[in-house]
Amino acid sequence: MSVSIKSAREIELMRAAGKILAKVHENLGKELREGMSTLDIDHLGDDIIRSYGCIPSFKNYNGYPASVCVSVNNEVVHGIPTKKRHIREGDIVSLDIGVIYKGYHSDAARTHGIGEISEEAALLIERTRQSFFEGIKYAKEGHRLHEISNAISAYAESFGYGVVRDLVGHGVGTHLHEDPQIPNFAQKSRGVRLRAGMTLAIEPMINAGRFDVEWQDDNWTVVTQDGSLSAHYENTVLITSGEPEILSLTETESSLVKASE
Ligand code: MF3
Ligand code: CO
Repeated sequence: MSVSIKSAREIELMRAAGKILAKVHENLGKELREGMSTLDIDHLGDDIIRSYGCIPSFKNYNGYPASVCVSVNNEVVHGIPTKKRHIREGDIVSLDIGVIYKGYHSDAARTHGIGEISEEAALLIERTRQSFFEGIKYAKEGHRLHEISNAISAYAESFGYGVVRDLVGHGVGTHLHEDPQIPNFAQKSRGVRLRAGMTLAIEPMINAGRFDVEWQDDNWTVVTQDGSLSAHYENTVLITSGEPEILSLTETESSLVKASE
């Protein structure tokens, strides 16, 4: 396994891709309404991505048919948008989006509640987000990759949640999926040494129930085996010698993170 180190020029392009992706998520997230179909969400997302001069990285990736992965409630990731599935008040909807800007990918996911949602659902979304921030405390040069995995899983499991094992985060850059694989669950080995210039998509997928998942007959949609809710939170992160730079946050999100430190 070899993990690429991005040059200063590449890092600028990754920053630009991440900033655009943050705006795409912000704009699309604001448009979610009860009654929309998951295909409406995909079409709107596709328009927004292209309005920034980007290409949707997921479209046709290994045959995936859409630009936005839309995963509702017990769906973990890779839900395929369809005009038959309408989102309802109380649903939780994970949107996973990748953009390509001048040849560089950025990848990020957010989980949204539609209207009023249960306390169980709201806590799952917030704790999934927080598990990412627990993990990236170790996303620094000199630390080892699996310190991130261990921190994510220790935090999520402290609530009795199941940390998905069959899907992992990944390096990202000129390709959507680069080395290394980034598990979200506890590891025995220490993993690769982190170095400044690595760009990583860190993406905890957390189930309210058990960690087991299965694939639906479309060969894409991953669901929880026990039918429990699942949330997803992902950002593209740049490793530096100091604090990690989270490339796919909006300015509002960044200032909220800083204020909470
Ligand atoms: N964030 C997901 C991943 O890294 C998105 C891939 S969906 C696909 O695997 F459609 F592109 F496969
Ligand atoms: Co990803």
